[in-house]
This record gives sequence, C-alpha cells and structure tokens, in this order.
Amino acid sequence: MQLSQRLRDLPPYHFAEYNRKIAALRAAGTDVINLSIGDPDLPTPPQVIDRLCETAREPNNQRYPEYAGMPEFRTAIALWLQRRFGVEVDPDREVLPLIGSKEGLAHLPLAVMDPGDVALMPDPAYPVYPTAVALAGGTCYALPMDAAHGWLPDLAAVPAEVAARARTLWLNYPNNPTGASATRAFFAEAVEFARAHDLLLIHDMAYAEVTYDGAKPPSVLETPHAKEVAVEFHSLSKAYNMAGFRVGMLVGNAAIVEGLTRLKSNVDTGIFRPIQYAAVAALGLPASWIDARNALYQRRRDRLVATCRRLGLETALPEAGLYVWPRVPEGMTAGDFALQLLDRAAVAVTPGTNFGAGGEGYVRIALTVPDAQLDEALARLDAIVARRG
Ligand SMILES: Cc1ncc(COP(=O)(O)O)c(C=O)c1O
Repeated sequence: MQLSQRLRDLPPYHFAEYNRKIAALRAAGTDVINLSIGDPDLPTPPQVIDRLCETAREPNNQRYPEYAGMPEFRTAIALWLQRRFGVEVDPDREVLPLIGSKEGLAHLPLAVMDPGDVALMPDPAYPVYPTAVALAGGTCYALPMDAAHGWLPDLAAVPAEVAARARTLWLNYPNNPTGASATRAFFAEAVEFARAHDLLLIHDMAYAEVTYDGAKPPSVLETPHAKEVAVEFHSLSKAYNMAGFRVGMLVGNAAIVEGLTRLKSNVDTGIFRPIQYAAVAALGLPASWIDARNALYQRRRDRLVATCRRLGLETALPEAGLYVWPRVPEGMTAGDFALQLLDRAAVAVTPGTNFGAGGEGYVRIALTVPDAQLDEALARLDAIVARRG
C-alpha cells in the first residue's frame, strides 16, 4: 500500500526514532539514562488529580465536550494571563484550549498558510514547527541564531523579497533547545516587523513557568499592538507536570483563534471535560507551588552545568526551560558527541542538529529525570573526565 507523498516527504519524528534506539540498547542489557527528552518526572499536583477524578465520575462530563473548550476553562486561562503577564484577553474570542500545544502548533499552518507561502523559521527550532509548515505546503526560510546574539534571530537581515512572501514568523522563548530568553525590546521589534510585513507572529511559550533565579520571561502579548498580529501558545505540560494530560492553549488574535477553532472542529471534538477541570485547578495553584518546583529543577540545572563545565564544555547557565545546552568539544559534531556519551556513559542526550543545522556544535540535555538517576548520569560523565585526566 502506497503512503501519500506528503507523508513520504516527512522526516521521522526524532524522539520516536531515538526512543526506539534507546529501547534496543536497554533490551540488550544496557542501563541507559535518558536525558534526551523534556518529559517532567515530577508528579502532577494532588489537587489537580483530585479534580480530574471527581469530575470524571459526573456522567455529563463523559459526553462529547465543547469544540472550543469549556467556558470555565477559557475564563481561567484569561484570568491566568492577566495575573501572570498583565495581558487582557477575551475568553470567548481570544482563547482556544488545545490537546497539548504540539497539537495546536501542528494544525495552525493549515489554518493560516497556503501552499508556497513562506514561514520565517528560527534555526535551531522545535522540529514540530517546520514539519507543520511543510504539511501545509509552505516552505521555511531559516533565521540563523547563535550564542553571540543571545539566540535571537536578526529580523533586519531578512531580505525584503523574502519578508514580502512570508506569512508567518515563529518564535519560542524561553527557547527550546538553547535555554535563551527574549527581552521585551526584542518582542517590540518582532511585533513591529510583523505589522510592517503583514505576517502572523506565532510565539510558543511552552516553558513560561519553568524559570530560575526568579526570572519572569515576558509574554509577546505584553507588547503594544501585539494582538493585531500575534498569537501565543501555552502548555500545562511543563508548567504543572501534566505532560500526559495533553492540554495547552492558544491565546491572542481573535481571527486566528477563530480560524484554528474552525479547522479543529473538523478534526477533533475538544478535550475531555475532566482534563479541563483539572487544568483549571492547575492554573489556580499559588505561585509558591511553581517556585518550589522550579527550585528543584534549579538544583539539577546547577549540578548539570557544573559537570558539563568540568568536562571542559562551554555551557551557559539557562534562566528558564528544562534543558542545558553545552557546546561539544572542538573538532566533534553534535551527533558524534551524543553517540560518544551514549557509548561511553550510557547517557542519552539530543544532538543540537535535531533542531536544525543551527544546532550543530551543541547537545541538549534535559533535567527531567529523578535526582538519583541524575546523580548516576553525572557520576558517569565525571568518570569520563577522570579517565581523560
Ligand atoms: C518548544 C515546545 N513547544 C511545545 C511543546 C509541546 O508541548 P505540549 O504538546 O506537551 O503542550 C514542546 C514539548 O516538548 C516544546 O519543547
């Protein structure tokens, strides 16, 4: 049976492939520690689970949910945005609950891009964005990013003829994979650029609530006029240790929210209501819950960064996100180094090139394994240093 050309052109989703490799090594008896994926190991808060269970018992919640999400959930999202960023959105017109932000990110190009349209795409980037653009028939124009420029793309360098054909500009801060954060000044520039070139600015803020040293990364919607040209994706996966729940949201420009709602109403039938009630409970958690959870990740971050530096790897201290992004040793590729760590330490990390050519020279290491496993991974990495010494 022949698959579609569209699917044949699709690269395999890296993490699915990589997990198969790790599974094969484990089956052969190797105790692999997987630091290649940002899947929170910490439990979902008990209040959230209680709300899920209570509401699952209610027969009315076992029926089809609303396409555009429960009004209670949309209102809770609007209140959260207002509390967290001082951003006002209309819960009826400017908010759309999603089955995880990945689902919305993957569907959005089908609602806003036509075949042949150009997407301005940071390099490196979360691989779902370019794939989603390709599935919609669009093409990507890479915006190179590097450490010297704080992993912010240089919008002024986009050629005028490319900007004229571009329909979307994709941004993601706090950034996966680099751990960089954006400034309000950069967002002001990006909003201005989107207005000047009549394109949609798509900002992915999946890591909004995973921050260190008290950092409070801004929402793009804080920027004056942003709602004219921008939408922002949020996720409960990393924010509240709810990756398995599959719940996130799109907020911002009403026409785009309406467009994605219309598209999705033809594809899915909303989110199980108990998950939405659980998400409302999560969004109502006090800031102290987030702070305590982040303090735990911060301790892991500090120890991992120290180990990377002992390995001789140039490593920035990220102020947000679930990853450390060290430079690989001089003369090695990201892929070689990731394989070396897998072979010599049975520690799986992600080569930066999995996020685009701009990730060459780096690997991404996740902080999402229990402390004891992280201790073991760090001991194995330190053993490499000792062997070298
Ligand atoms: C940058 C970024 N955006 C979005 C997502 C998707 O998150 P979810 O679909 O769990 O909301 C991820 C997950 O790793 C991510 O790294």
